[in-house]
Amino acid sequence: MRNRKLGRTGLEVSQIGLGAWGIGADAWKGGTDADSLAAMSRAIELGVNFIDTAIVYGSGHSEKLVGQIKREHPELIIATKINPANWEWPAKDTTAADDAFSAAHVIARTEESLRNLGIDTIDVQQFHVWSDSWVGQGTWLEGIEQLKADGKIRFFGVSVNDCQPNSVLKLVESGLVDSVQVIYNIFDQAPEDNLFPACERNNVGVIVRVPLDEGALTGKVTPDTVFEEGDFRDTYFAGERKQQVWESVQKIAADLEVPLERLPEMALRFCLVPDAVSTVIPGMRSVRHVESNVAAGEAGPLSPAQVEKLRPHRWVHDWYH
Ligand SMILES: NC(=O)c1ccc[n+]([C@@H]2O[C@H](COP(=O)([O-])OP(=O)(O)OC[C@H]3O[C@@H](n4cnc5c(N)ncnc54)[C@H](OP(=O)(O)O)[C@@H]3O)[C@@H](O)[C@H]2O)c1
Repeated sequence: MRNRKLGRTGLEVSQIGLGAWGIGADAWKGGTDADSLAAMSRAIELGVNFIDTAIVYGSGHSEKLVGQIKREHPELIIATKINPANWEWPAKDTTAADDAFSAAHVIARTEESLRNLGIDTIDVQQFHVWSDSWVGQGTWLEGIEQLKADGKIRFFGVSVNDCQPNSVLKLVESGLVDSVQVIYNIFDQAPEDNLFPACERNNVGVIVRVPLDEGALTGKVTPDTVFEEGDFRDTYFAGERKQQVWESVQKIAADLEVPLERLPEMALRFCLVPDAVSTVIPGMRSVRHVESNVAAGEAGPLSPAQVEKLRPHRWVHDWYH
C-alpha cells in the first residue's frame, strides 16, 4: 500500500483509508458488527492505516468498534468528528460560531469520543460541518488549542459541507487547519477547481470522502434496487435518482471501455489522480470490499487519457438535503 503525506501533519496515511459511517449501522442497514470488525482487521493486514469515524455514527457505536481495532493496532491513525452543538447540517454563514462549536462543546465532545474510542489521543479531530464566516470568530480555536496542549488531539481538520468545496477556502488560507475532508468522485469533480490548489499551496491534507457516491459509482444501484426502510440511501436515491445513476454509470463504463464490474476500481483510481489527495476513504463493511478496494489502490491513479474521458461525466448533485 502506498502512503501519502497528510499535509503538514507529518502523518503518512495509506492512500486507501476506511470510512466507518456504515459501521455505525444506524443510517446504513445490512451490516453486522462482526463483519465490520473483520473488514477493519483485514484492511489493516493489507496496509490500510487510516480510519475515519465520527461521534454521531451510531451515537458512538462506530467509535467504539474502531477503538477496539485501534487498541489492537496502536499504529492505526484515527480521525473522528465533533457534531455541531446546534445540529445544523450544513452550517449556515449566519450562524454564530459559538452556537455550533464553542470551546466548551469542542472539549466536552472530544472527551466523550476519547471514552468511546478507549484511547488517550485522537490523531485528527474534525468539525463535522464548517462555515468560513467562523474564521476569527467565537471560541472554537481556543478549544482546539487547549486539546492540543493537553495531548488529547494531535491535529485539527474540518469536514466540508456536502457539495460546497469552496466553503472552506478562507480557513485553508488561514493556516489554522491541518486537513479537510471533502466529497470528491467522478460525478463531483468540483474540489479540483479551487480547493485542491489551495490545499497544495498551504500544505493542508485532503481526505476524500464518498468516493463511490454512496454506492452509485459501484454500478450496483439499479432502478430495481430496494433499500431497507430507515436506510439513508432510501432517500438519497429516491424517485428518479436510481434510474439516473444507472444510466450514468453505464455511460461511464462504456467510455472507459471496462465492464460495469470494474467501476468501483475505476472510481477509486479517479480519486487518486490529484497530488493534493492524501487518502481516499470508501465506506467498507466487508472483507470482500476491503480486498477489492485495496487492490484498486495498488493499480494506481487512472491515466490522463482515462481522466479526460471522465470530464463530461461531472455531475454535482446534492441529494443529502
Ligand atoms: N459529512 C461527513 O463528514 C461525511 C459524510 C459522508 C461520509 N463521510 C465519510 O466518508 C466515508 C465514505 O463515504 P460513504 O461510506 O458515505 O460512501 P461511499 O464510500 O461513496 O460508498 C460506500 C458504499 O459503497 C459500497 N462499497 C464499497 N466498496 C465497494 C466495492 N468494491 N464494490 C461494491 N460496493 C462497494 C459500500 O458497501 P459496504 O458498506 O457494504 O461495504 C457502501 O454501500 C464514510 O464512511 C465516512 O467515514 C463523511
